[in-house]
Amino acid sequence: MVEISAFQHQMSALLSRADCPAMAWVGALDCELSSDGRGPVSDMPSVFIKTYGCQMNERDSEAVAAQLVAKGYTLAASEAAADVVLLNTCSVRDAAEQKAIGKMQNLAADLRRNRPNLVLGFMGCMAQSRGQELIDKLPDVDLVIGTQKFHRTAEYLDDLFADRRKKVCDIGSEAGSEATIKEHILAGSGSRKSVTAFVSIMQGCNQHCTFCIVPFTRGEERSRTIEDIVAECRELVAGGVREVTLLGQIVTSYGKREIGAKDGKSAFVQLLEAVSEVEGLDRIRFTSPHPKGYGDDLVEAYGRLPKLCESAHIPAQSGSNEMLKLMHRGYTRERFTGIAGKLRQVRPNIGVTTDIIVGFPGESEAHFQETMSLLDEVRFDNAYVFKYSKRKDTPAATMPDQVPQEIIEDRHTRLLARVNEISVAKYQSFTGQHVQILVEGPSRRNASRLEGRTRCNKIVVFEGSSRHRAQLMDLKITRSSLCTLYGDPAIVNME
Ligand code: 5AD
Repeated sequence: MVEISAFQHQMSALLSRADCPAMAWVGALDCELSSDGRGPVSDMPSVFIKTYGCQMNERDSEAVAAQLVAKGYTLAASEAAADVVLLNTCSVRDAAEQKAIGKMQNLAADLRRNRPNLVLGFMGCMAQSRGQELIDKLPDVDLVIGTQKFHRTAEYLDDLFADRRKKVCDIGSEAGSEATIKEHILAGSGSRKSVTAFVSIMQGCNQHCTFCIVPFTRGEERSRTIEDIVAECRELVAGGVREVTLLGQIVTSYGKREIGAKDGKSAFVQLLEAVSEVEGLDRIRFTSPHPKGYGDDLVEAYGRLPKLCESAHIPAQSGSNEMLKLMHRGYTRERFTGIAGKLRQVRPNIGVTTDIIVGFPGESEAHFQETMSLLDEVRFDNAYVFKYSKRKDTPAATMPDQVPQEIIEDRHTRLLARVNEISVAKYQSFTGQHVQILVEGPSRRNASRLEGRTRCNKIVVFEGSSRHRAQLMDLKITRSSLCTLYGDPAIVNME
């Protein structure tokens, strides 16, 4: 899964991360969950949720908001207008944590000073990894909710508002928490109603990559049942959704223990088959898989499940076998390129994106050059480039040969420049092609235009009207920028 501010940083020199909303990380979108100002008027407190990090965080925020609304809370249009501000946090890199902490300090100084009753809280990964320490260091924080306790947010807010408790910190584990929140906000009307939705299929990760804090923040792998996930997808479709993205920290390990392989098909492929059967659903995506679990059964599923979109975000992390071993990734460069090759054989137009870390301990210039050459070999449609960030209690934090920051910065700049060069060429190659998009709504950049996504996960902006929303449309691509295609439906119609 992926994170907000890494990208912001990464793109700052060359482009803003927000230019690439098709990518896996919510990152620089700094997704804020609020009402459109047209919500019902109520005496109940209003809540504003700001989200940092990955799509799973985005989905968790959405579910918390939906649960709060179901309990009578309202969503505030801005943090200034809210009675409660919750920051849903990311811990993958230190910069993401610092960003949320800085934001909380500003909220305390700017808002809470004048409105002492304003409730401030942290949720999610940093809440989980730092717990009570956050309240001790930031006394204005009232609430800290860990990653297995999202569903208790309303209960804890009730306690705070009724003065039953002065502060709440709950970062405990809870059996069954992976299946506790299924609520979605689909209640918006007209152009705001979602045609796409995230569906959380599992929580946690057992892979223990040596750089990664996720096993500490999200816990052990726990999967929901196929029936439960399919039921959620059916409900979403009944509410107007046409595309789902199945989410998990390591979806290729879905149901390994609980369901197991059958007829040579992993539990994850069995799930894809079951979700494919949902009538009225047009498109399925998932993120993030692990290359180790990207078996031939999954590659082959792309060939036989027409709803499975031809797009794959497969984190490579490095092009050097030595680094991959130190990272405890469990695959080689050759295995990785083999997967990309097989996928392209099955679906030649597949969009392939990745995550890469530069400056992992022990990474020499020669190792780094192997990652550069991986870019040329695989030619990713896009890549998230992360500067290695030391995370507490991870094995890599105490490895020898930590790479100096200025070298990390330099490699980041060089790698990103190559990623962008390839990406520009890939996007340009769409000019003149016909693509199918699912129209999601007004363009984020320019609300007078509409936008949708191709099956290979590229945003296409076009001149259209609100009647196109939620439609599958064929467009002819007329031009491209770094992370956006521009299309013209009229040309297709005339031909
Ligand atoms: N430092 C830098 N990047 C990291 N990622 C995970 N942990 C770290 C870390 N300690 C990146 C990986 C992962 C993505 C979600 O975040 O590339 O795939």
